[in-house]
Amino acid sequence: MSSLFFGLDILSTFLGFLVVSFLAILFFRYRYHGKMPPGPAWIPLVGNVMELTSDPDLRICLRRLQKKYGDIYKLYLGPSPTIVVCGYEAIRELFIKRGIEFSDRPAAVLPLIILNGAKGITAVSGDIWKNQRKFILVTLRNFGFGKSKLEEKIHMEVGLFLTEIEGLNQKPFQMMAYIQTSVGNVISHLVFGGHFSHDDPRFKTLMNGFNSFLHYVSVGSPVMFMPVLRFVPGDFFGIKSISRKMQVVKDFVNELIEEHVKKFDEGNIEDFIDAFILEMKKQNERENNIFTKEYLSAIVMDLFIAGTETTSTTVTWASFYLATRPDIQTRIFEEIKGNVGTERLPSMQDRQNLVYTEAFIMEVLRMSCIVMISISHAPVTDVSFRGYHIPKGMKLLPDIHSVLSDPKIWGDPENFRPERFVSDNGTLLKPDEFIPFFTGRRNCLGESLARMELLLFISGLVQRFELMPPEGQTLDIKDVDGTFCGTHAPKPFYIRAIRRYDKA
Ligand code: HEM
Repeated sequence: MSSLFFGLDILSTFLGFLVVSFLAILFFRYRYHGKMPPGPAWIPLVGNVMELTSDPDLRICLRRLQKKYGDIYKLYLGPSPTIVVCGYEAIRELFIKRGIEFSDRPAAVLPLIILNGAKGITAVSGDIWKNQRKFILVTLRNFGFGKSKLEEKIHMEVGLFLTEIEGLNQKPFQMMAYIQTSVGNVISHLVFGGHFSHDDPRFKTLMNGFNSFLHYVSVGSPVMFMPVLRFVPGDFFGIKSISRKMQVVKDFVNELIEEHVKKFDEGNIEDFIDAFILEMKKQNERENNIFTKEYLSAIVMDLFIAGTETTSTTVTWASFYLATRPDIQTRIFEEIKGNVGTERLPSMQDRQNLVYTEAFIMEVLRMSCIVMISISHAPVTDVSFRGYHIPKGMKLLPDIHSVLSDPKIWGDPENFRPERFVSDNGTLLKPDEFIPFFTGRRNCLGESLARMELLLFISGLVQRFELMPPEGQTLDIKDVDGTFCGTHAPKPFYIRAIRRYDKA
């Protein structure tokens, strides 16, 4: 009998939950209706997921929605409304001109679940974000962000990377598997003050965990907007497995932090963790201290997650365009040979003479648009924009792809043409609309590091090797394009690297 009552109890609680959810949805619909931007009809709980998955190519879905609803439209991702912002003008108005109002993040659901707390840098808002971002930038600059101090470390990783590729003896290989360790190691130098060997299993676990996490935070991922899915029995949505992987990563990061704490020497600050521990000691007594081990661990994870996959995916795209466009590859090689020679690696000082190489990298960033939809932003107060009401905390998704593929800006955005970034008198053009790292106050914190890595790795690669498809095969964009998990990455493909002097 008591179990019957218990069963009824659960049933009535469940029905009560459904009614409350339904009323809440009606309330939000009523409150926002008419004031919010237009958007497609949505299904309760599921929202407009169908609109984002109606074509396997996310770009096609996004362009269709913009065409139908304009530059500002509303989508329901699960039960919560989200505003998508398209086109350079709207992005400029909101995130540059009114950047102060739009630099918060909405309450971050997924990081809360998986990383156990919205700490770190990417998910935080307000003064915590301002103070942490300032501290990270100043500290990383001291360790050589964008300077020659760091260049030495990157050169070391470029050298090891080229040796690994050379060791393949012209055998076909997948670029991503090699470049990821090298790029991850650049962050390791900055953060831990050391690096891992290419076959270190701990580093592989670390990279694997970060990659899996990034795939989960992609726009189309259901757990991003329906946290309730984590209670579904079993692990259909993979959230339990990703949480387990992230726990291993967290334990490893915490171990490294503890090692740093043990050997901490105030007179010898060697890396980001040391600098943070010093700040922890200074701020220890302060109220609402944000310099704690929890923040440190979350920031370290953020730097790896934001800085590794993005840069390695871009180098992988670059290797695809090099292997499929021998005309472009030859022009880059000739530029390097003429300005740097083949005796030493290209350096940051050569940058001004490597205009076409830089233009190539910019075109790779534009064309591959690896972050199509930026991380969500939220207004700090209720605001109005173009006659629409945007309530405080509302999720805003900047559609970077809408800008990087806009024919009004680029003329022929579908063509891969590095020359678009070279002026008639041979200087590098830097249009405002070139925003792969986004723009405004909350732009990519690692842009200068990424630009440095891209130049040094890509120019080093072309200087030493000629890249081409495997013997007897052709590579086509149709076969590799279209994976939109976290970043827009190419599907796995093989290339060969032939050492240039072997050809002579
Ligand atoms: C090709 C490489 C990269 C691309 C295309 C890229 C792109 C982006 C984009 C679009 C954002 C979102 C901005 C926003 O709307 O909030 C972002 C944020 C961020 N990126 Fe990058 N990124 C790259 C490399 C890096 C690297 C190397 C680092 C590392 C250290 C890094 C660290 C970050 C961080 C910490 C944020 C969050 C900033 C904040 O919330 O204030 N990124 N990046």
